[in-house]
Amino acid sequence: MLILYAICCTIVYMNELDPKSLEDLRSRARAGENVLRSAEFRALFDVIKTLPAEQKAAYGEAVNKLRQELVQLSRSAEPASQDSDKGPLDVTAPISTNQSAPQLLNTENGSQHPITTELERASEIFELMGFEIVESRQIDDDYHMFETLNFPADHPARDDYDTFMTEDGLIAPAHTSTMQNRVIKERLKNLENGEPIAVMVAGRVFRNEDLDARHEHTFHQIEGVYVGKNVTVGNLIATLKTFLESYYEQELKTRITPFYFPFTEPSFEFSLSCPFCKGEGCHICSQEGWIELLGCGMIHPNVLKEAGVDPEVYTGFAWGMGVERLVMMKYDIDDIRHFNSGKLAFLRQFK
Ligand code: DAH
Repeated sequence: MLILYAICCTIVYMNELDPKSLEDLRSRARAGENVLRSAEFRALFDVIKTLPAEQKAAYGEAVNKLRQELVQLSRSAEPASQDSDKGPLDVTAPISTNQSAPQLLNTENGSQHPITTELERASEIFELMGFEIVESRQIDDDYHMFETLNFPADHPARDDYDTFMTEDGLIAPAHTSTMQNRVIKERLKNLENGEPIAVMVAGRVFRNEDLDARHEHTFHQIEGVYVGKNVTVGNLIATLKTFLESYYEQELKTRITPFYFPFTEPSFEFSLSCPFCKGEGCHICSQEGWIELLGCGMIHPNVLKEAGVDPEVYTGFAWGMGVERLVMMKYDIDDIRHFNSGKLAFLRQFK
């Protein structure tokens, strides 16, 4: 009975997008449009927040099914027609030579970068969990990179975030935590209305690194920020475990160990049982059975205060994880440098 009720509710809520609009989404996908980015598809996620808890799972499953269907439809879309008498695009020619008519490259010749695809997948999971998705900035300032995160001037932990700076003091951010102060400040109204602040930030970050198979100067991070009443480390662990089990599509064990970040107290390193060998030990986890994946903790009271939140009333958790590492573990990719290499042999495996 309860199941029947949940299905009926799901159908009613899916009607937020009536059958005609669903058909419209399908035919746009068939024509090759990436409708997952459309306002109509994203609006389906906004409904989640309004649903009673017991209906969320069934609704999420229905939206996920629709997502898979749309992905399939756009994958089997006819490639854009090529103007055969024009010949191939000459990338060395002056712009005007190629410009007589806008020419779409045959979709068979290109595909979405795996980092973009996986970031979209991660965003969908967090969206289904009720998080808003925000993109981080690729140029920032000292205030957001350090001051708002409880690194006063001359704090020794600043050395851990060695990145690039313009002559006038702007910074290529070394982590997506630069967005924490902004996303909290912009949503103080949520707290006044008795709602939590739940945001996932995705973006590109930069470090002055010695490059090797595990270190890149430019990579991506997913940051999470959650602030509300009575928020605990238990909520942090459950949130990350739920995400990771959904992303790797299997049950996982998780482990936290104490660590230090100036912007969280307490701070942890978060590990998961190796999704490849299920904790037995293999080359992915260096025979450990565990993989240290990300940094996290309870947001430091000074960080909350600086964003206008009273730490006596509210608490919150935050985390930051490297997207390349997440994806490398999913597909057994042995070298982080493949992602920016532009090698077709690598990229074509993700078509
Ligand atoms: N920003 C940290 C880094 O890149 C990762 C991190 C740790 C982010 C703890 C957080 C956090 O939000 O709470 O090393």
